[in-house]
Amino acid sequence: MPTRTHEEFTLRTADDPDVARAMRALVARTWPRYLAAAGPADPMTQGAYFLDTLCARWPALQFVLEDEHGEAVVSCNWAPMAHSGNTATLPAEGWDWAIAHASRCQDAGLAPTHGCALAITIAPEHQGRGLAYVALKHMRQLASDMGLRALYAPVRPNHKERFPTLPIGKYIEMRRPDGLLQDPWMRVHERLGAHIVGACERSMCLGGRPDEWADWCDADLSTSGPHVLPRMLSPLEVDLDADWAVYVEPNVWMVHPL
Ligand SMILES: CC(C)(COP(=O)(O)OP(=O)(O)OC[C@H]1O[C@@H](n2cnc3c(N)ncnc32)[C@H](O)[C@@H]1OP(=O)(O)O)[C@@H](O)C(=O)NCCC(=O)NCCS
Repeated sequence: MPTRTHEEFTLRTADDPDVARAMRALVARTWPRYLAAAGPADPMTQGAYFLDTLCARWPALQFVLEDEHGEAVVSCNWAPMAHSGNTATLPAEGWDWAIAHASRCQDAGLAPTHGCALAITIAPEHQGRGLAYVALKHMRQLASDMGLRALYAPVRPNHKERFPTLPIGKYIEMRRPDGLLQDPWMRVHERLGAHIVGACERSMCLGGRPDEWADWCDADLSTSGPHVLPRMLSPLEVDLDADWAVYVEPNVWMVHPL
């Protein structure tokens, strides 16, 4: 049964196939095209694949918030996993690792001890209205209700795209004069009680042919080397001789104690 979560919104989970479809459609129209289109290093993880994996394995944990017209305006995606709790072991392969590790834990029948936030997607027309807080609070609450010890998050710092060549380690230290984190999405996590563990430099690795990337990004990729492109957190590395281009997205590990 849908649960009221906010005076304007209704929570529904992806064990209903209609909800899973709405979730896919929302992610597809909100994320940069290349994120959903580029080929994954591991077919369990990126783009459309990651939603397939999460909805198949943990459908009751994947949820949307619907508005009064029954439109999904927020998609929240996460996974439970077994972990020692030693955050120093959270790897540089953040997002890719999290989905693969959670899947291995489930396959091995290990009882989850932690949750890992993977994506919170707000419909473009609803962004900037405080919904990131509503969504993340609900994810934390679900993880807490399951008795999990902490919620990990390989956070995609959304304004890193404004500093694509700045090393991630420097970017995540940037704070405003009032002391709060410069990055809006990291700031949401910190305001809700999360702390930074460190950069995960190779959180998401995506590959494809240069002509495919040129189409996904509407870019001229006629030279080899790094290309700074819109909505990317780091440059795309193009190798025309190999007919291949790779995007390695840096994220930041943050931890919400529960
Ligand atoms: C990143 C995202 C989740 C933020 O959600 P949101 O509902 O727009 O954000 P909120 O309105 O809750 O605001 C969160 C913070 O960001 C700030 N913010 C929101 N939009 C902003 C903008 N365009 N420019 C600068 N800051 C902005 C808000 O001021 C707020 O910070 P504050 O509370 O310190 O003032 C949303 O933009 C989104 O879905 N983006 C696409 C998918 C994505 O990148 N997801 C994150 C990785 S999984």
